[in-house]
Amino acid sequence: MTYIKTQLLPASAQSTRSAAAILRRGGLVSFPTETVYGLGADACNDTAVAQIYAAKGRPSFNPLIVHLADAGAVAQFVQMNDAARRLAAAFWPGALTLVLPLKPDAGVSKLVTAGLDTLAVRVPDHRVATAILAEFDGPVAAPSANPSGRISPTTAAHVMAGLDGRIDAVVDGGACGVGVESTIVSCIGVPTVLRAGGIPLSALTACLGGPLLHGAQTDAPIAPGQLASHYAPRGAVRLNAACAAAHETWLGFGDVSADLNLSPTGDLSEAAANLFGMLHKLDALGAKHIAVSPIPDHGLGQAINDRLRRAAAPRDEKEAIWRMDITKDG
Ligand code: TXA
Ligand code: MG
Repeated sequence: MTYIKTQLLPASAQSTRSAAAILRRGGLVSFPTETVYGLGADACNDTAVAQIYAAKGRPSFNPLIVHLADAGAVAQFVQMNDAARRLAAAFWPGALTLVLPLKPDAGVSKLVTAGLDTLAVRVPDHRVATAILAEFDGPVAAPSANPSGRISPTTAAHVMAGLDGRIDAVVDGGACGVGVESTIVSCIGVPTVLRAGGIPLSALTACLGGPLLHGAQTDAPIAPGQLASHYAPRGAVRLNAACAAAHETWLGFGDVSADLNLSPTGDLSEAAANLFGMLHKLDALGAKHIAVSPIPDHGLGQAINDRLRRAAAPRDEKEAIWRMDITKDG
């Protein structure tokens, strides 16, 4: 890849216009959302979308989420249904992605869907993201702004550390409030959770008035990007650690004297917001062996545990572990 100068822009009206102009000419801009920083490109421009895959080193079979400024625009691109309308009304703008049948005339690049006849759509809840999407006035494909397989970014500095020289600009909107990616629900047939995330599953169940299927319980593929070793820090990760051995760096949760603590008070929202930042920090510290405290598996804890399981998976057995993971999740 050729080196390009990456501009680090402050959040401002001027930067919003610059970001939209870069998107219009087919460039790549990273911007904050409430979940993690996204790496945006014009979803209708094949070359621009191809650049996302190149900049991230992302396998081209892994489709992208389309981001829109407001929920009203979504029906232009996908076929809505009752469940999707309910979820959209309850959680958009917000940390929920819906997978729906792609409209044939949507005009979205085939690279966005990686050839699937479904499209993942989301309306983020972040003033900087919304301003850029509104100014661009079109669908923006945006995966998390990290090199493929690495930890997702929750600050502009994380984005620069991973993608400086590979993208046109990063708009710095401070740290992301939620800290884990959106919950992905497929509304093709019976609503099915493909990825735990920023909206807890209990909230979705309450909204729909019934249980949701999990990806592993249906023929539907889980989100193709859910590779086992996604979100990996460089060190080896040991989960459910009651304490750390001498050679380990301890990532704690709750009232423990760990090296880093996701939430000393045991608050799952705080832990989610700190998760990726602390994994980045463990990399920066050069931690080779990481012990992680048990995290309660409810509410946002389910998304946190999903990311931690993937961080702990052996990197060289991605494919095999990914399959095991599907079964285990079931
Ligand atoms: O919070 C988020 O969702 C962030 C911010 C930037 O919006 N985005 C994000 O994108 O996490 P990414 O690309 O890192 O993860 C998107 C996931 C991938 O696992 C991909 O396989 C899945 O969504 N996905 C995309 N389109 C899909 C589709 N049509 N069917 C099933 N899964 C899909
Ligand atoms: Mg990602």
